[in-house]
Amino acid sequence: MSENIVWHAHEVSKKERSMLKAQKPCVLWFTGLSGSGKSTIANAVESKLLELKKHTYLLDGDNIRMGLNKGLGFSDEERVENIRRIGEVAKLFVDSGSIVLSAFISPFISDRVQVRGLVQSDEFIEIFIDAPLEVCEERDPKGLYKKARKGEIANFTGISSPYEAPENAEIVIKNSGISVGDAADMVIKYLQEKGYLDA
Ligand code: ADX
Repeated sequence: MSENIVWHAHEVSKKERSMLKAQKPCVLWFTGLSGSGKSTIANAVESKLLELKKHTYLLDGDNIRMGLNKGLGFSDEERVENIRRIGEVAKLFVDSGSIVLSAFISPFISDRVQVRGLVQSDEFIEIFIDAPLEVCEERDPKGLYKKARKGEIANFTGISSPYEAPENAEIVIKNSGISVGDAADMVIKYLQEKGYLDA
């Protein structure tokens, strides 16, 4: 199918795009249960990066599922495809020199490992938003846990579909008491210390 396709090298390099943006591109891959706070914290991190004049883009679960991944459901296979496509998009954004933030449950270790492998080893930063199921269910910001418990949503992560917690995430944020600002600061500090925010 793809036998007559030849990769075309670009004239402008990732390095040049990154230097113009005065940063080292990377993927901040937030993973965690629904309602754990991935999107909220990712949004706060993006705002702080904007204040620091960094170039970012946020890929967010629900929004991507309304466009690029419209029509994909929540079976294991569909989640794998969801994350595969998002990984490829994240890779393109990294190539553009951007700092990409992604907020998807991404429940399977193997999928996250696969995305990690799409970019350079220091370009993938896994951020585990570690909130216990009871806390997420208690918060239930979208009322989905209630529906899942009633059997109105199939394959719901944490209830009727598994979540495989990261074993070696670069950043672990225990989200059962920490403020959004403090959580975002943890990520910013990591990026500053590792030199991502310098050219
Ligand atoms: S993922 O598992 O494929 O990574 P993704 O992050 O894109 O999931 O989408 C999760 C969001 O979809 C949840 O935050 C929730 O709002 C909604 N959702 C709807 N059905 C389900 C379900 N069965 N399991 C988990 N989330 C669901």
